[in-house]
Amino acid sequence: MDLKKMVGTLAASHVKSGMVVGLGTGTTANYMIEELGRRVQEEGLEIVGVTTSTQTQKLAEALEISLIPIDEVTHIDLTIDGADEIAADFSGIKGGGAALLFEKIVAAYSSEVIWIVDHTKLVQKLGKFPLPVEVIPFGSKQLFNKFLENEYNPTFRTTNDGKLLKTESGNYIIDLHLDRIENPKELADNLDKFVGVVEHGLFINLVSRVIVGYPDGPKTLEV
Ligand code: 5RP
Repeated sequence: MDLKKMVGTLAASHVKSGMVVGLGTGTTANYMIEELGRRVQEEGLEIVGVTTSTQTQKLAEALEISLIPIDEVTHIDLTIDGADEIAADFSGIKGGGAALLFEKIVAAYSSEVIWIVDHTKLVQKLGKFPLPVEVIPFGSKQLFNKFLENEYNPTFRTTNDGKLLKTESGNYIIDLHLDRIENPKELADNLDKFVGVVEHGLFINLVSRVIVGYPDGPKTLEV
């Protein structure tokens, strides 16, 4: 079985009737959403979903999963999402799909967050995967230059036709090619100080469980 499908399907079994569920974005999260859709239709699972992107919203709607805007819920019980890199302390990088802002907001307001990944996403040190930083377009070239001065090796993320990619909030993504992040917390704090940074893809202290797909089966890691 596809490893992403394996963990996506397994993660959906953590969802119980009555829950408000944060629905992540990406190919792995899609498998989890498909399994939730199946359970809603075949098992009568009663949940309400909070989405992290238009892509996820469309999939959930097609599967007839009830949705609610984040600002209309009193709480989110559990969010399940993919990730791009995860270190042993469950700090991680997200935003490969440019949805990091909504993903981080939904995760931050959730009682529990589970990440679902194939084993290739587990790393000793974060940073091989370029770290996405969502920035306000106004002044973004100035911010880019500041990142250059700090030797963050920035590149603007572009679309296939070479235009600057815009996020769902109308912002740009600057990817930092750092190769190795020695101290994720320190870097996160530094990035938060740059004027024009909306959010970055370092997720720290947000996740309590990671379900990892290996060729011989899934493994659940807990903090
Ligand atoms: C989107 C994300 C995704 O969760 C991350 O890129 C993993 O994606 P996939 O499951 O397709 O490998 O952060 O912004």
